[in-house]
Amino acid sequence: MSDKGFVLWFTGLSGAGKSTLAECLVPVLQERGRNVEVLDGDVVRTNLSKGLGFSKEDRDTNVRRIGFVANLVARNGACAITAAISPYEAVRKECREMVDPNRAEFIEVFVEAPLAVVEERDTKGLYKKARAGEIKNFTGVSDPYEAPSSAEIVVHTGDESIEESVGKILSYLEARQLVPGATV
Ligand code: ADX
Repeated sequence: MSDKGFVLWFTGLSGAGKSTLAECLVPVLQERGRNVEVLDGDVVRTNLSKGLGFSKEDRDTNVRRIGFVANLVARNGACAITAAISPYEAVRKECREMVDPNRAEFIEVFVEAPLAVVEERDTKGLYKKARAGEIKNFTGVSDPYEAPSSAEIVVHTGDESIEESVGKILSYLEARQLVPGATV
């Protein structure tokens, strides 16, 4: 078992399940002896990134801040789970490069769900507003989302149960010896 910290970097459309997966993973990782911190876009935007909007510039600033803090957490042996749309590949790459591979691992998790599925779910009612033009620059509708080309893990939340997606992530972490295997 490695005692290295790691960043689990979730990226995906609003409503794809990033926050839900992060919340489900916390107790599981804690049971396996890991300290965990979650940096959720919606929460970060109420404090660390308060006042930032959704222009490319503001999103990039938000995502860089999340990357900065995630690295501080991970390089001290804990696990940082980030859950922000983080739509731009170049800035996600910058965040990856903030992490010194000798001290921690950066693991990108593409939380994939088709637009039609997240729009149908519309848990926060925001897609409807975006379609009506009440919210501008909405990711996937009127703003770009650059899917990762080389994520370490891809979960398909449109087809998989949460348990299946969590299982995939855990299997990856076990194979990398970042968490011990489950005890029966
Ligand atoms: S990011 O692009 O900067 O990474 P972040 O994950 O922090 O985004 O915030 C996304 C959340 O903000 C969405 O889940 C949604 O609740 C809300 N939101 C409000 N306006 C927008 C918008 N124009 N585009 C995307 N999400 C928005």
